[in-house]
Amino acid sequence: MAFDPQKFISESIVQIRATVGDKRAIIAVSGGVDSSVAAALASRALGKNVLCVFVDTGLMRKGEAENVRAALEPLGVNLKVVDASREFLGALKNTSEPEKKRKIIGEKFIRVFESEAKRFGASFLVQGTIAPDWIESGAGLRDTIKSHHNVGGLPKKMKMRLVEPLRELYKDEVRKVGQALGLPQEIYSRQPFPGPGLAVRIMGKITPKKVEIVREACAIVEEEIELAAKEGKMERPWQYFAVLLPIKSVGVLGDARAYGYAIAVRAVDSIDGMTAKASRIAPEVLEKIADRITRKLKEDVNRVVYDITSKPPATIEWE
Ligand code: XMP
Repeated sequence: MAFDPQKFISESIVQIRATVGDKRAIIAVSGGVDSSVAAALASRALGKNVLCVFVDTGLMRKGEAENVRAALEPLGVNLKVVDASREFLGALKNTSEPEKKRKIIGEKFIRVFESEAKRFGASFLVQGTIAPDWIESGAGLRDTIKSHHNVGGLPKKMKMRLVEPLRELYKDEVRKVGQALGLPQEIYSRQPFPGPGLAVRIMGKITPKKVEIVREACAIVEEEIELAAKEGKMERPWQYFAVLLPIKSVGVLGDARAYGYAIAVRAVDSIDGMTAKASRIAPEVLEKIADRITRKLKEDVNRVVYDITSKPPATIEWE
């Protein structure tokens, strides 16, 4: 049977109200599709009794806090922006192992929430977890591939009760729900963004400088691919971003020798994120991306490569 978003919304509202009652709830919004849809749904069900918190982890996309404000505030969502970037970057300072990064970020996130929740008097934590998040986190029969932020980062003794209204949905269904809730298209059709943010797009140790580099490179990849799609040069891929590699290679800057980082561009076509194929991007689009990245970041990056691997054997993100 075809998925019916309206039916899903009315059933979820009843369920959320039955679970939360007249208590208060808190939800993290990241600017991504899942959390925005969960926030809009929870706000529809609970009104001002749900506080939507945007935590600036210092690992968000360019302009994210402003975008979230612009998208959610007009919907009457009770939104609070918390700048915790120093705390997150400090905690990640000496970590290069991907699973460790995920755990640190997941746990810090929950800590920040617990303190916001206390202040708000919330007893429930709403999360935008969707089916692939928990399937890939080893809850089912599969081995653990990655501890997804929404699941793997949760401490064992959580003080709040969890509400996950999108738990059984896949991405395409979440988008339909977002559209039916009246969210702007820029939100519900937005490409996925991982919970741990840019941390999993920086291979190895994270420094503020590296975050700046990958944030700028991701913005360029997004702009150029969206432009190419708008001009009809290609279909917009499922996901498209940049990864900062931990290797340096030799290049030329002006007439001097340079020794800079390499950026990998990743763009994939997928239905649900469980499997994926590298997108076929016109060479001139890739060239423009490489040109813009190496100009804008000329002091730090002198090489751009394109990742042509499918999932499996690779995953979409590099960590
Ligand atoms: P991978 O990299 O495992 O990712 O092929 C599949 C999809 O999930 C996104 N992703 C995450 N989403 N929390 C999330 O909410 C996470 O921890 C997380 N890690 C990866 C990824 O961007 C892709 O769309």
